[in-house]
Amino acid sequence: MATFQYDLRQLFPQPIIKITSTLLPHKFRGDHRQAADIAAKISKIIDRMGELSAIAQKLNKPVTTAQKLRMSDNHVVYLMADLAKDGDGRRGEVTGLLKIGFKDLYLFDELGQARKVDKTPCILDFYIHDSRQRTGLGKVLFQTMLSEEKWVPVKCSVDRPSEKLLSFLKKHYGLERCIPQANHFVLYDGFFEHEKGNEKASELARSRRMLLANR
Ligand code: COA
Repeated sequence: MATFQYDLRQLFPQPIIKITSTLLPHKFRGDHRQAADIAAKISKIIDRMGELSAIAQKLNKPVTTAQKLRMSDNHVVYLMADLAKDGDGRRGEVTGLLKIGFKDLYLFDELGQARKVDKTPCILDFYIHDSRQRTGLGKVLFQTMLSEEKWVPVKCSVDRPSEKLLSFLKKHYGLERCIPQANHFVLYDGFFEHEKGNEKASELARSRRMLLANR
């Protein structure tokens, strides 16, 4: 369990909070001393969840740390907690982490043409505590992020997705057919659709999907 020695309700006014480089919950209001205290606690949570995510993905080092988030203006971490876990509602348990951001990427479209796409929405890290996986929490966290950021799944690039995440995206969002890339990002068919100047690629992707569906 990802439990911490302090009252999570102080940090989580709601079960999912959004953290930016200030290391404070998005809607935090308080004085300087409170801000320092909250930021220190949030840092510990981010570091611990980042470590657990790295262990789950068998990575050498965490993708997500408080230090990296502090240094980055275009990354956001969502944290999810179960605030009533211990019965009296005072301690609770942190159940998930989702890190997203924007990156300028060189990508191949459906026609195999290399393109530079500025500010591509990226899924950078995603973890639900081992004891809670496959119970629907990942979907809740991901949906909250999508509606908060106003993102649609097909327009997201995914950095080195695990088999579990590929399966998750297929199950919940029907994402399956990838556009081959030379880097470690995964893009799905439809990523370039509706983009000005790329009608030909969209048309091709649509025809290919229809052909496959009619097989
Ligand atoms: N094996 C295969 N697919 C899995 C899986 C597993 N052990 N765990 C989750 N999934 C996929 C499946 O599609 C599953 O549906 P199913 O149970 O009907 O097969 C679906 O996710 C369940 O959805 P949900 O319960 O909302 O997801 P979750 O809470 O388990 O969260 C992850 C999904 C990927 C965040 C979570 O499994 C996780 O933290 N995995 C370890 C870390 C990781 O791989 N992160 C991805 C970073 S690239």
